[in-house]
Amino acid sequence: MILFHGKEVFHYKLHLIDKLNFMFRLDDKTAVITGGGSGIGKAVAIALASQGATVHIIDLNLAEAQKTVDEIIAAEGKATAYACDVSKQQQVVDVFEKMGKHDVLVNSAGVSHIGKADDTGEADFDRIVNVNVKGVYNCLYAAIPLMKTNGGGAIINLCSIAAHVGLNDRFAYSMSKGAVYAMTLSVAKDYLHDKIRCNCISPARVHTPFVDGFLAKNYPGKEAEMFEKLSKSQPIGRMAKPNEIASLIVYLASDEASFITGSDYAIDGGFVTLNN
Ligand SMILES: NC(=O)c1ccc[n+]([C@@H]2O[C@H](COP(=O)([O-])OP(=O)(O)OC[C@H]3O[C@@H](n4cnc5c(N)ncnc54)[C@H](O)[C@@H]3O)[C@@H](O)[C@H]2O)c1
Repeated sequence: MILFHGKEVFHYKLHLIDKLNFMFRLDDKTAVITGGGSGIGKAVAIALASQGATVHIIDLNLAEAQKTVDEIIAAEGKATAYACDVSKQQQVVDVFEKMGKHDVLVNSAGVSHIGKADDTGEADFDRIVNVNVKGVYNCLYAAIPLMKTNGGGAIINLCSIAAHVGLNDRFAYSMSKGAVYAMTLSVAKDYLHDKIRCNCISPARVHTPFVDGFLAKNYPGKEAEMFEKLSKSQPIGRMAKPNEIASLIVYLASDEASFITGSDYAIDGGFVTLNN
């Protein structure tokens, strides 16, 4: 018999507790998070760092990315921020070269748009493609060669329910997330033998500045009413919190998810399956 918290336990039980304590740890891993200056990306950076990962944050907004880094360092984690526009390939290649070896890539940088096919202007369509589609491609392009030489890695892309169901007024945004889903499958297939796992997750509404900015821009004066409506559209009755999304990403990044590739995970309070 062995004492654990003052109680007698058998060896095997202690072994199990030890094992659980070490699950989802990322101590020897380095993770790159795009869009880590805000919302989901920020929560992901903090969660991965708290599991022991060394974190590199790349964001258009260096000041906000640095705030995430400061929070991580204050909690004795390891993090660095880099200014980078993911839609610009040379900037992305340069920043990945500077960061070097990494084991995890989380593509979270993204922008939203409201509109239908016949009222989405070319400039808005291009902006959504450039950030949400080309930005993900650019990071895959820069990260995969480094992961190959490194013996593998885990990639997690931020997809959306918008890729899987028809939503009103989300023409360009839905198109971009459909592309993220397709890129996820393509990468998962192409790099199976390089031990690179690639998955995506599809949240419904998550309460982040992305949602607040979108409401302020598109529903001025009606923000509270629309917030309530959007919250209720999740059968669970509310929006997700960013750290609920981060928990799933910690799992997919960890070695405990070693059998998972080419999958999309709904994390949507029942939006896709229970809204009937
Ligand atoms: N919030 C939601 O309800 C929700 C739901 C489903 C999917 N998503 C997806 O999750 C991701 C993160 O969303 P969020 O709510 O955290 O957004 P957010 O607006 O809070 O954060 C996005 C971050 O990306 C950065 N960014 C934007 N354009 C960039 C660029 N060109 N280069 C580098 N960085 C750039 C921004 O500076 C910001 O820090 C997005 O891809 C979004 O489509 C969000």
